[in-house]
Amino acid sequence: MLKYKNNELYIGKTALSKLAKKYGTPLYVCSKEKLTSNFKAYIDGFKDTDSIICYALKANSNENILKLLSKLGAGADIVSGGELKKALFAGIKAQKIVYSGVGKTAREIEYALKSNILMFNVESFEELEQINKIAGKLKKKARISFRVNPDVDAHTHKHITTGKFGTKFGVMYEDAFGFYKKAAAMKNIEVVGIDSHIGSQILDVKPFKLAAEKISKLIDKLEAAGIKIKYIDIGGGLGIKYKKEDKPQTPADLKKIVMSVYSKYKDKTIIVEPGRSIVGDAGILLGQIVYRKTTGTKNFIITNIGMNDLIRPALYDAYHNVLPVKKSSKKQKVADIVGPICESDDFVAKDRKFPMLEQGEFIAVECAGAYGRAMASEYNSRPIVKEVII
Ligand code: LLP
Repeated sequence: MLKYKNNELYIGKTALSKLAKKYGTPLYVCSKEKLTSNFKAYIDGFKDTDSIICYALKANSNENILKLLSKLGAGADIVSGGELKKALFAGIKAQKIVYSGVGKTAREIEYALKSNILMFNVESFEELEQINKIAGKLKKKARISFRVNPDVDAHTHKHITTGKFGTKFGVMYEDAFGFYKKAAAMKNIEVVGIDSHIGSQILDVKPFKLAAEKISKLIDKLEAAGIKIKYIDIGGGLGIKYKKEDKPQTPADLKKIVMSVYSKYKDKTIIVEPGRSIVGDAGILLGQIVYRKTTGTKNFIITNIGMNDLIRPALYDAYHNVLPVKKSSKKQKVADIVGPICESDDFVAKDRKFPMLEQGEFIAVECAGAYGRAMASEYNSRPIVKEVII
């Protein structure tokens, strides 16, 4: 997506230095073209399957990104009342919205019921009882699925693995059948689906098959007991190429592997909840060099990108490639590229071979479109970083 032309870094036809000067830095920049092609890869990948692509808003809930995805036909995977409000505001149809999350409050449940969303992905028995109670009060029937934890290792970072036992997510596989039976008997509950989400930044789709095989067994058992499943939600999680050696798989690969299990069901709709693989590599973060210094043996390039703007390196030790916006002939040194925040973990890149750019020069941090601005804070009383879509 980024290319050097005459030693200047471009995103499509736009020089990044132009954007940096016009809007100031730090600045998130998202490419509409890349976003569109990423979303279309899901539509194309699942085109011969009855499916809904429910974009996971948590990755990036920028209003204009949501409006674009909504126009392209996206549904939404939401985890809060705030996300529901944003999804509806962007024009995403309530009938394409699924609601995940372990801690849905009474107020949020009421809002979702009144909005008539497609289904709640229920994550505990107490949550089910709460939904049943509130739906009764509103004289409604709540459509639900259980988020079932299939105890599958997604082989990803420990902070973003969710489908193993011992995480707070979902209900235990062994409990699910009993919960479904109780749910089916509840007055204000309509069982419509089953859901699992095994993790994030998954580079090899094989664990999706393991999860599907377990979920499929459960579906068969439920249907034999008269509990009909209409929607199979396979969660999100496809990874992107943060490092040169990362070889992410495509939505078509994902479809192929899950349908190797689910194609026997002719009457069901597949729901996918991608976040990162839609926006991640469509966005970058622009910053500027403030100072350079050497302390002892270490070189530091101090930038205006703080951990409040991009927390992934500090929180997950995540790798983001960094590029100079103007190609530099300056000597390359091994340096830590850091921010201005008063925390030792405030860094963008550690021990990176990088030209010792001068004050005022711009840098671009790649693959920052997902969980970048979405996780930004005002720590150190810095304003929430801006984002432009081009
Ligand atoms: N569905 C559910 C229920 C989820 O919990 C998530 C992500 C998704 C879908 C979307 O997953 P994706 O396609 O984006 O992998 N902040 C972390 C990632 C946390 C992911 C949380 N759940 C990061 O920066 O790597």
